[in-house]
Amino acid sequence: MLDVQKIREDFPILKREVNGKPLVYFDNAATSQTPQVVIDAIVDYYSNYNANIHRGVHTLSQEATDAYEIARKKVQCHFNSKHAHEIILTSGTTHSINIVATGFTNLLTKGDEIIVSALEHHSNIVPWQMLCERTGAILKVIPMNEEGELLMDVYDQLLSDKTKLVFTNHISNALGTINPIEKIIQKAHKVGAAVLIDGAQSCPHIKPDVQNLDVDFYVASAHKLCGPTGVGLLYGKEEWLNKLPPYQGGGEMIDQVTFEKTTYAGLPHKFEAGTPNICGGIAFGVALDYMNSVGFDNIAEYENELLEYGTKKLLEIEGLRIYGTSKNKTSVISFNIGTIHPYDIGSIVDKLGIAVRTGHHCAQPIMDFYKIPGTIRASFSFYNTKEEIDTLVEALKKAKMMLS
Ligand code: ALA
Repeated sequence: MLDVQKIREDFPILKREVNGKPLVYFDNAATSQTPQVVIDAIVDYYSNYNANIHRGVHTLSQEATDAYEIARKKVQCHFNSKHAHEIILTSGTTHSINIVATGFTNLLTKGDEIIVSALEHHSNIVPWQMLCERTGAILKVIPMNEEGELLMDVYDQLLSDKTKLVFTNHISNALGTINPIEKIIQKAHKVGAAVLIDGAQSCPHIKPDVQNLDVDFYVASAHKLCGPTGVGLLYGKEEWLNKLPPYQGGGEMIDQVTFEKTTYAGLPHKFEAGTPNICGGIAFGVALDYMNSVGFDNIAEYENELLEYGTKKLLEIEGLRIYGTSKNKTSVISFNIGTIHPYDIGSIVDKLGIAVRTGHHCAQPIMDFYKIPGTIRASFSFYNTKEEIDTLVEALKKAKMMLS
C-alpha cells in the first residue's frame, strides 16, 4: 500500500499555492510532477560533471558518458528490451514516432495500407498521414464506440496482406481507455505487419515488457514518468532498427565521413545525431528508479481507487457527462458540464488552484466523434488524494453556478 502523504513529501511543487489556494495538480496526463531525487540529479549533473558525451578523453566527458549509458541500461531494464542498443534516446514520443514514420518512406509502396486507431493523439496520426503522402500508402482507421473502445471486429476486417504497419496507443490520452494491445499486436503479426505502440500514456500506470508483448516499436516520454521534458525513447527490435535509415545526419551517427561517401554508426548511435539531452537522459534513469521504488502494482491499485472515487463524485454533479466509460480504463476522467465551454470551467477552477487540461487534447477526431469542441480532463497520479478530488468537485459546482 502507498503512503500517499509520505510520497507527497517527495514532490516540492505540491507544497506551492496557486492563486492563493493549495495547488491541486490534475494535469498528470500532460506532464507528471518531478520528485526531489530527479531535481537533485539535474542539479548534480550541471554542478559536477556537465560535459559532452562519447567525445572526450577528459574526466568530465567520461563521467557524463558513463552516467548517460547507465541511464540507457536503466531504460532497457525497465522496458525489458533484449539489447541496450535497441533503446534510442530521443527528445520524446513525437520525435520517436517521426523517426519510424520517416524511416518507412522507402519501405512502402503505393497501395500498401497502414492502420491507426480512432483513439490516437495527433502525434500518432499526422506523421503517418505524411508518410502516406510520400509513399501513396493508404491510412485506415479502427473505429471506436460510444464508450471510447476500439471496435476489434472491424480491426479484423481491416487487416489484410496489404497491411504493412499498425499504430495504436496503449492508453488514450483523451479518454483513458486501455486498448487491447496484446491482441492488436498478435493479429497484425499474423498478416506480417509491424506494430508501433505509443506508450506515452500507459507508462506512468503500467510497466511494459516489450519482449513479452513482441512489439516491433514502442515509444514513450520521460515527462509522463516523473522525469524531465525533452527526453524519451524509441524501442525497436534490432532487425527493424537496422532496416530503417538514419533520421538525421550529423555528428556521432557516423562511422566514417569523406566528401565522397559517409558510412553510418551502428545502433543506437545511428539514430542519435548531435548532442543529446544528456542531463535529461540521466534524470530519466533516476525517475525510473523512483517510480520502481514506489512500485507499479501499488501505483495501479491506488490510481484505480482514485478513478473509482473521482468518477462517483463527479457524476453527482447534475448535467456532468463523462466521455470514455470503458471498464478498462486508467485514472483519466474527461467530462463536460451541460453545454458550458470547457475553457470557461478550466479558467474558473484555475482561480481556485486546480490544474486540469481543457480542449481537444490533441485528439480532434475523438472530439468530432462526440460532436463536442473539447472536454475538461482531470488526470490523477499516485501523489493525488481523494481530498483533492473533493476540492475539484466543490470548485466545479461553483463554476457551474457562475456559468449557468
Ligand atoms: N499529450 C499530452 C496530453 O495529453 C500533452 O496532455
